[in-house]
Amino acid sequence: MKNILLTGGLGFIGSHTIISLIQKGCKVYVVDSCVNSRREVINDINKILGGNINLYLRFFEGDIRNSLLLDQIFKEALIEKTKIDAVVHFAALKSSEQSIKNPLLYWDNNLNGTISLLNKMDKYECNNLVFSSSAYIYGLSDQEFISEKEEINPTTPYGKTKAAIELLLNDLYKSNSKKWKIINLRYFNPIGCHTSGLLGEFPQGKPNNIFPIILRIASGDCNKLKIYGNNWPTKDGTCIRDYIHVMDLADAHIAALDYLEKSKSIFKTFNIGTGKGTSVLELVNAFSEVNNIKLPYEFVDRRNGDVSNLVADNSLAISNLDWRPKNELSDMCIDGWRWRKKFLKP
Ligand SMILES: NC(=O)c1ccc[n+]([C@@H]2O[C@H](COP(=O)([O-])OP(=O)(O)OC[C@H]3O[C@@H](n4cnc5c(N)ncnc54)[C@H](O)[C@@H]3O)[C@@H](O)[C@H]2O)c1
Repeated sequence: MKNILLTGGLGFIGSHTIISLIQKGCKVYVVDSCVNSRREVINDINKILGGNINLYLRFFEGDIRNSLLLDQIFKEALIEKTKIDAVVHFAALKSSEQSIKNPLLYWDNNLNGTISLLNKMDKYECNNLVFSSSAYIYGLSDQEFISEKEEINPTTPYGKTKAAIELLLNDLYKSNSKKWKIINLRYFNPIGCHTSGLLGEFPQGKPNNIFPIILRIASGDCNKLKIYGNNWPTKDGTCIRDYIHVMDLADAHIAALDYLEKSKSIFKTFNIGTGKGTSVLELVNAFSEVNNIKLPYEFVDRRNGDVSNLVADNSLAISNLDWRPKNELSDMCIDGWRWRKKFLKP
C-alpha cells in the first residue's frame, strides 16, 4: 500500500511512524489538530529524511470530527490521482488521569472522532484500517503475561473509549467482512526517540506519561519524580510495565499494513510490546546508569485507575507479522536523552 493517511500523525508515535513509512516508499497524508503536538515536527521529520518532505507528506491541520476537512483530504488525494489505500488512526486524547477528570472530552474526541473518520473512509471506499488501541483496556489482571484473549476491563474513561472503539470496529467488520480489513494494535508502553536525536515526544502542557517526566527531571525542569505507590504486589513494590522503543512500535505499523494487504478479509488484534516487564524503579535506575544522571524521586499514593502489572504476551504478533522488537531498555533511555538534551539551556 502506497498512500497512507495518518490521523494524529504529528504526535509521538505518529511522527516516528511517518519516518518508517516514507523510508519504505509511501506517501503520507497527515491530519492533526495539534491539540497535543506541534506543527514544527514536520521540520524535524524533514531533517531526518534529508529534505524534500513536500514530495512525500501532505499535512492538514484540523480535527477529525470536522467532516468537511476529511472530505477535503480524501478529495485532494483523488485530485493528485492517488487514492488513500489505508488509514492508521492515532488521533486520540491519551491521558488516563485527565480522562477521569473530564470524561466527556475524552468520549467526544476519541469516539466521535473515530465515527467521523469511519464514515468518510466508507464514503471514499478506503476500507483498510490500523487502529491504535492500548494495553490499558485490559485493566486488572493477575496474569504475568497478558494475551489478546485476556478479559477487557478498562479502569479509566480513556481505556473505555479504546475498548468501545474496538467493539465498534468489530461491528463494522461483521457488517461487511468482504469490505473492511482492520488491524487493532494494542500498544504497551512506547518510550525512547528516533536515534537521530531529532525527533521525540513533546506533549503540550504537563506530561502524564512517565518517560517524558523522567526527561524533564533529567533536564532540571522538574524536581522529583513522583512514583505512585511502593506497595504494589510486584518485585520491588512499584508498577511493572512493558516498555517498547517507539521505533519498534513504528515498524509494527509497517508490518501490520503489509499483513492487511496480503489478507483477503481480516479483523485481528495484536499486542505490541516486548514481553519484558520493567518496574518503575528499574526504569529509573536504567536511565540513571546509562546516561549517568541521578533522578531524584519520592513515593506518593497510588493513582486512580493504575494497575500493578501490564506486560505483553506478544507471541501472536511475532508469529503473524513480519516484526519483532529489536531495541533494549538501555537503547530507549539513551535515545530519549539524546533528543531531550538538545533543549538544555547553556
Ligand atoms: N503513548 C502511549 O503510551 C500509548 C499507549 C497506548 C496507546 N496509545 C495510543 O496511540 C495513539 C498515539 O499516541 P501518542 O503517544 O502518539 O499520542 P500523542 O498525543 O502524542 O498523539 C496523538 C495526536 O493526535 C492528535 N489529536 C488528538 N485528537 C485529535 C482529533 N480529534 N483530531 C485530530 N488530531 C487529534 C494530537 O494533537 C496528537 O498529535 C493514541 O491513540 C493513543 O491513545 C498511546
